[in-house]
Amino acid sequence: MSGTETAAPPVIVAHDLVAQYESIEAEVTAAMRAVLAGGEFERGPELWRFEEEFAGACGATHGIGVGTGHAALFVALRALGIGAGDEVITVANTDISTCSAIGQTGAAIVFVDVDEATFTIDPAAVEAAITPRTRAIVPIHIFGYPCDIEAVSRVAAEHGVPVVEDACEALGCSVDGRAVGSHGNPAVYGFYPNKQLTTGEGGMVTTDDEDVAADMRSLVNQGRSDNGDWLVHQRVGFNYRMDEMSAALGIAQLEKLDTLLEARRRVAERYDEALTGIDGVELPYRGPEARSWFIYYVRLAEGIDRDAVAAGLADRGVATRPYLPAIHLQPPYRARFGYAEGMLPVTERVSRSTLALPFFVQLEDDDVAHVAASLREVLQEL
Ligand SMILES: Cc1ncc(COP(=O)(O)O)c(C=O)c1O
Repeated sequence: MSGTETAAPPVIVAHDLVAQYESIEAEVTAAMRAVLAGGEFERGPELWRFEEEFAGACGATHGIGVGTGHAALFVALRALGIGAGDEVITVANTDISTCSAIGQTGAAIVFVDVDEATFTIDPAAVEAAITPRTRAIVPIHIFGYPCDIEAVSRVAAEHGVPVVEDACEALGCSVDGRAVGSHGNPAVYGFYPNKQLTTGEGGMVTTDDEDVAADMRSLVNQGRSDNGDWLVHQRVGFNYRMDEMSAALGIAQLEKLDTLLEARRRVAERYDEALTGIDGVELPYRGPEARSWFIYYVRLAEGIDRDAVAAGLADRGVATRPYLPAIHLQPPYRARFGYAEGMLPVTERVSRSTLALPFFVQLEDDDVAHVAASLREVLQEL
């Protein structure tokens, strides 16, 4: 290398699935072998076991494994009878799946604003948005921090409206020491690769209600009943089944969930130490409830150009995401429901100012230090 050339900066990816699996490689391999040897690839012992153990871990009675978090949300809403002409209240700082699942039922999406500190649904805004057509409320436990589920459930109960908790980013987080999803509402989890537990694609819906569970079980399996008759369809359903390989992968991680969550917490603590005291950088919210680390984000002070920061970090080999875009401003939601800038001021402010940093269980301390040093440098330059 000549004296004028500089070394390329390290490339630190947003999340590293291979690294995540390295820590559970033996368990995953054994589980895959068992499925292949058993010769049952769908609706077999792995799925039944994963459903039972996952529901148990979340404090619920029934679990129904499905192909995606989107499918889990859709069947939960469908089992509650939600369809065209209904309104469903949710927030716009969520994954697109929440909104596309509600949209798929035919119901209108009523977005409400969020709390500025926790980024979760504002119970007072929910109360104000309820109309005679409101048929469900879908709060999100976003970035692994729980919403005020007790306040939301109280408002919902006063108006006789069911709640479906979107806990896709929140496996392992709790309210008052109780796992999200154990507050009596159907709850929905997603197992996409960036999640605390991943099956590649996958999801689960949990509930304590036996009838709702039976309906969902039938809906995900083309409307069949559980009597084993494959060619009889009791209702219009869908193929949203989770396969045995995915379920086996889920079980292997569920057994080590505490270790996986702890590893994420350790990386988050490293970030906290490395990023404390940088002007204009706010660290993730710390509140009374237990966060399960889904991503590690920073919030940049008003006036800092978040996209310029992201570009500066990319130049230094650090991958970031402008997370999350406000869904109400995405073209189909503007067009279908008439949303526009200014309608959800807190959501829009949060959405403009948050940046997700690289985050996965085996992120090295040196990498965290490099991310922090780069962020300091970029902010000074700006
Ligand atoms: C808040 C939220 N809801 C729902 C989902 C479900 O997504 P998917 O259908 O990709 O599993 C996700 C996953 O990314 C999510 O983060």
